[in-house]
Amino acid sequence: MNGKTMRTIRIFDTTLRDGEQSPGASMTVEEKLQVARQLARLGVDVIEAGFAISSHGDFEAIRRIGAEVEGPIICSLARAKEADIKRAWEALKDAPRRRIHTFHSTSDIHLKYQFRVSREEALKRSVEMVALAKSLVDDVEFSPMDATRTETGYLIDVVEAVIEAGAGTVNIPDTVGYAIPEEFGRLIKAIKERIGDRAVISVHCHNDLGLAVSNSLSAVVNGAGQVECTINGIGERAGNCSMEEVVMALRTRMDFFGADTNITTEEITRSSRLVTKITGIPVQPNKAIVGANAFAHEAGIHQDGLLKEKTTYEIIRPESIGLRSAKLVLGKHSGRHAFKTRLKEMGYDISDMEAESAFEKFKHLSDQKKEIYDEDIETLVSEEVAKTPETYSLVDLSVSSGMSQKPTATVKLRVGEGVLDRTEHGDGPVDACYKAIAELTGTKSSLLKFEVKSITGGTDALGEVTVSLEEDGRTVRGHGADTDIIVAAAKAYINALNKLAARR
Ligand code: KIV
Ligand code: ZN
Repeated sequence: MNGKTMRTIRIFDTTLRDGEQSPGASMTVEEKLQVARQLARLGVDVIEAGFAISSHGDFEAIRRIGAEVEGPIICSLARAKEADIKRAWEALKDAPRRRIHTFHSTSDIHLKYQFRVSREEALKRSVEMVALAKSLVDDVEFSPMDATRTETGYLIDVVEAVIEAGAGTVNIPDTVGYAIPEEFGRLIKAIKERIGDRAVISVHCHNDLGLAVSNSLSAVVNGAGQVECTINGIGERAGNCSMEEVVMALRTRMDFFGADTNITTEEITRSSRLVTKITGIPVQPNKAIVGANAFAHEAGIHQDGLLKEKTTYEIIRPESIGLRSAKLVLGKHSGRHAFKTRLKEMGYDISDMEAESAFEKFKHLSDQKKEIYDEDIETLVSEEVAKTPETYSLVDLSVSSGMSQKPTATVKLRVGEGVLDRTEHGDGPVDACYKAIAELTGTKSSLLKFEVKSITGGTDALGEVTVSLEEDGRTVRGHGADTDIIVAAAKAYINALNKLAARR
C-alpha cells in the first residue's frame, strides 16, 4: 500500500427500496425482514429499508426492521416534502440507529418538465427539508436526483447548501445510468475539492449502459466514501450497482484502490441466493461473482493450470464468497444436537421454536433423502423463518399419471378447522393438482409463472418450486420444497395462496 492509509468505504444497501422497484420484485414484510437480517450478517453499513410514505407495507417493513434488526443504520427514503419526512420519522422512531434519506431533482430536464419549479425553488425546498429532517434525526442524507445531467456549478451549490443545513451524507445519483466512468470520477473529484471532509460523498449508479459498477469504482478513486448498491444488482430498469461486484473489486484490488469495506464476504453467496429466491429474479449464469459459472473453468489449458496451482487462473477463492462445494453434512442418524450445531456453524441465529420446526422437517427429509447438504438445510431454514400464516395447509396428495391415462390428482386440504378433499383431471399431474387446489380454495388468482429447480444433485434431490400468482393487480410468490416435485408444486401454490389470504 506504499504507506498510504486504507480507507473504509461504506456500503449502503438499497435492495429493499430501489431493488424492490425491479418489475415483479415486491416483497412481503416478513420477506423484507428476512433479507434485512441477512444484510446485517453480511455487514452492510446502512440498510435502506423502504420508502415510508409509499405504502403501508413499506412503512411496516421499515418500522419492524428498525426495531428488530441490529447492527446497520436503518434508513427510509423521503421526497423533499414535509409529509414524507414526518412519515419516515414515524417509521424509524424505534430504530436505535436511523437515517432519513431525502431527495429532490436538480437537472433542468426534471425541473422544467416534471416538477415545473425553478432551480432557486428546488434549492430552497431541498435546504428546508434537510433542516426539517435534521430536527428529527441526527443522520440525514440528501440526493440531488439526476445529478449526472445537472449543470455542475448548480449541483455543487445545492450540495454545499444541504451540508450547511445538516446533511452528513450527500449522495450523487446517476439516476438514468448516463455517466461514463472517467467523467463521473471528475464530477466526484470536483465535489470533493469543494466540500472536503464536511460530509461523506455517496454514489448511486444505475446500470443502463452496463457501467454502474465501473462508475462507482471511479467515484471511490476520486473521493466517494459510500457506495449505494443492491444484491445481485437488482433494481429499476437495468438495475443498480451490484453489491457483490463492487465489494469484491475493492477487496481483490485493495492494492489499487487503497480501500476496502466492512463486508463479511463469506456471506455473499447466501445473500445472493436468498434475494433470488425471495424476488424470483434469477442471476444470469455468467454474472461476475455470483453467477453459476463464475468459478467454473471449462478450457483444458485453464484446468491444467488450476490443478498445478490455483492462482494461475483464479483471482478470488470461491470460499471467500461463501461458496462451498456441496458438502455432505448430515444424514438420517444425525440428532437434534448435530442439526442445531450445524445451523450455528452456518451462521443462523434463529429462535428455538424455528430451529425445532426446521429439525422436524429435516427428519422428514432424511427419511426420503440419504445425504443432506448445506443447501438443503438453507432451504428448510428459510421456509421456517419466512413463515406465512397458514389459512390453507396440505394434508395429503395423491396423483396418478402416465402415457396411457389421464392425469388425476386428489388433494386433501385443511381450511380453517375443517379438512376438504377434491379430485380433478388435468393436462399433467401438476395441472390436475392445481385445479383441485383452486376449486378447494375458490381462488380468483391467476398463475403468472411456474419454475422448478433442484437444490442439489441426484434423483433424490430436494426440488424447489416457485410460483407467481396475480390477484387484483397484485403479485405474490410462493415457494415449496420436497423430494417429490408434485408435492413441492402443491406446497408452492398453497404458500402463494396463503400470502394472498394474509394480504386480504
Ligand atoms: O436513482 C435515483 O436517483 C434514486 C434516488 C431516490 C436516490 O433512487
Ligand atoms: Zn435509484
